[in-house]
Amino acid sequence: KTPDNWLPRDPRLIRLTGVHPFNTEAPLSDLYNEGFLTSPELFYVRNHGAVPQVRDEDIPDWEFSIEGLVEHPIKLTLRDLLEQYEQKTYPITLVCAGNRRKEQNVVRKTKGFSWGAAGVSTALFTGVVLGDLLKKAKPKRGARYVCMEGADKLPNGYYGTSVKLNWALDPNRGMMLAHRMNGEMLRPDHGKPLRAVIPGQIGGRSVKWLKKLIITAEPSDNWYHIYDNRVLPTTVSPEESANNPKWWIDERYAIYDLSTNSVTAYPAHEEQLCLVGPQPNYRVKGYAYGGGGRRITRVEITLDKGKTWRLATIDYAEDRYREQGPRQMCGGELDMEWRESRFCWCFWNLDIPVSELAEASDIFVRAMDESMNVQPRDMYWSVLGMMNNPWFRVTIAKEG
Ligand code: MTE
Repeated sequence: KTPDNWLPRDPRLIRLTGVHPFNTEAPLSDLYNEGFLTSPELFYVRNHGAVPQVRDEDIPDWEFSIEGLVEHPIKLTLRDLLEQYEQKTYPITLVCAGNRRKEQNVVRKTKGFSWGAAGVSTALFTGVVLGDLLKKAKPKRGARYVCMEGADKLPNGYYGTSVKLNWALDPNRGMMLAHRMNGEMLRPDHGKPLRAVIPGQIGGRSVKWLKKLIITAEPSDNWYHIYDNRVLPTTVSPEESANNPKWWIDERYAIYDLSTNSVTAYPAHEEQLCLVGPQPNYRVKGYAYGGGGRRITRVEITLDKGKTWRLATIDYAEDRYREQGPRQMCGGELDMEWRESRFCWCFWNLDIPVSELAEASDIFVRAMDESMNVQPRDMYWSVLGMMNNPWFRVTIAKEG
């Protein structure tokens, strides 16, 4: 029995930790087959503790506050938020900083559990632009950070973290407080009834079950802000990091923007490919995402470990929306311009002659973003095992 056993969960999800807390990802091929928008059933889940239980009849009265260095502290209910503020819908990809950690754990055990490459999902989030709320509260001089706190009580206090205030005030960054996902109320695992959504940054900043925004002069001093979501120097071992808070309190090692990443979904790692038959080509395909709203500008494949590269075709969300129309995608209107789906992942594919695949032993993929941030060849190992983004490799098993 788990404290969360009141929640129905999709049997296809792969459970990554013990009975509790609940952390899951979908099989990579299932995630890919969902397309640009991930259904709530297969959306990855990263919980640090038990899911706060909120009865439907109590949702309109869910209270949250904006306090700290503000001229006008605000206490609002979800009802107020819906009635008094403009609602927006944005397509946003969330990614756990631990996505692809399994590859790091194989090299050397990190402190984190083994995410495959499906710790990423995309949804249409509906809610209020964070900057609109903050402007009402009027941050005082010296205010520099927005600290957020959830309702999940954990061994080291409530889950919390912070982002910079000037980011939160910038409407182009799309930060929001969301209550709906793909047109329906947030599911309990994803923050029902209210969560922050911080596009382009690691999922750990998007605080679920949101109760408090505290405007401060310094970054959050929450335990989870300090001891989670950091990439310490690769020289710091688990033992050294455990005994030395100096590594943790250094805000330089906190991670915000996602790193450029791409993954092959088809073929699967070690999949046995049938390369005989009438088809001249095999279609290799997968996903890619950039950090900080930077668009992916190229995805490249190599069959000879990086000596030569081939350019893949990229399928952007905006092209797909244009084909299908936003209504079909979400049952409602989208507020972001198509070109602003830069906070979403994209899909890529490349047809490779089967005769050439038959000769290859593995396929590597790498992506580059508009600032020419390209995935590195080598892994950067760190004690928490985060932001793993070297060239993604699948090996090909030959039939017979
Ligand atoms: N917010 C709260 N209150 N508690 C949490 O455990 N986990 C964070 C973030 N927000 C967390 C949280 C992490 S590490 C990630 S990656 C995302 O939520 C995951 O969001 P999801 O479960 O909706 O995919």
